[in-house]
Amino acid sequence: MLRSLFILLSRSKRIRNWIPKYKLTRRMSRRFVAGETLKEALNVISNLSQKGMKATLDLLGENVEDEESAIRAAEQYKLALDSIQKLDLPSGISVKLTHIGLDLSHEIAFNNLKSIIEKAKEVGRFVRIDMESSQYTDITIEFYDRLRKEFPKTVGIVLQAYLYRTEEDIKRLLKDGPIDVRLCKGAYKEPPEIAFPKKRDVDKNYIHLLEILLDPELLRSGSRTAIATHDPNIIEWAERYTKKRGLKAGWYEYQMLYGIRRDLQDYLTKIGEKVRIYVPYGIEWYPYFMRRLAERPANLFFIIKNLIRP
Ligand code: FDA
Repeated sequence: MLRSLFILLSRSKRIRNWIPKYKLTRRMSRRFVAGETLKEALNVISNLSQKGMKATLDLLGENVEDEESAIRAAEQYKLALDSIQKLDLPSGISVKLTHIGLDLSHEIAFNNLKSIIEKAKEVGRFVRIDMESSQYTDITIEFYDRLRKEFPKTVGIVLQAYLYRTEEDIKRLLKDGPIDVRLCKGAYKEPPEIAFPKKRDVDKNYIHLLEILLDPELLRSGSRTAIATHDPNIIEWAERYTKKRGLKAGWYEYQMLYGIRRDLQDYLTKIGEKVRIYVPYGIEWYPYFMRRLAERPANLFFIIKNLIRP
């Protein structure tokens, strides 16, 4: 119930404009958000890299309402890519299509995305297209499919294990060549007609999809898999499976969100796994923060407790 409440709150435009104005809520958001400026985010990435981790930088924002804002977001991404290159940081970027204009027109979003990917290619960095709620799944896959042919080593997609359709999506994409997929469970509220309602079934499907995505033949022929989860059971399974199948480092990697299960992030790095941290930054942190609370409502109490601790 609390999960639904937080997801509902994440969509409220009125609250979205109101909450981030308060110093206290801004401080609370720091649990999961690197900062409000690019400089703060780059500092976080630099610290992660000293610990042996890689990053993917996410400029927070979604569902922009005019073309100017969409273009501004794309420009900020290009600036971030330039800075990552200048500082020689081990980071790519993650982009939400609604942040660069998908609600306005497909053409605006596609052109913005393509220009970001061109920039990424120029500076030798990677662009991951985040997956949003199910109304955008088809078009996100279509954009990825069009662009992966032109920029094979520069662009990847996210797929969600809670959607029934994901196995078919993977198989369809694979017919046309290697794919680069970040597999996550899925963070939005979806109806039972299209998504597994029970966590147990989502977890089972996650492993099933990983078995497809971690196939040695597939990885040998150029596909890449990012295991994006903090779930210790799945990670344990993946550790056993990757050893058993003799998968090479670099064919797959673990990805986790900034501020979540730092113990696991450190552990996997220490045992020599490739670990990439999703580092979000920017002033529009509210919906992202609410989704993190929705995943684990107890976070709210921990954050408040830490804030009032003397
Ligand atoms: P699960 O929710 O089962 O949690 C497993 C364990 O992880 C918990 O028991 C707890 O210990 C810890 N944990 C998980 N969430 C936590 C939280 N918020 N606070 C504290 N502890 C927490 N989704 C999406 O729809 N589109 C996308 O593009 C992405 N992108 C993405 C990138 C990366 C790198 C990651 C790791 C995740 C995403 N996600 C996402 C989010 C994803 O779909 C999912 O909502 C979260 O990762 C939580 O699910 P877990 O797999 O961690 O498992």
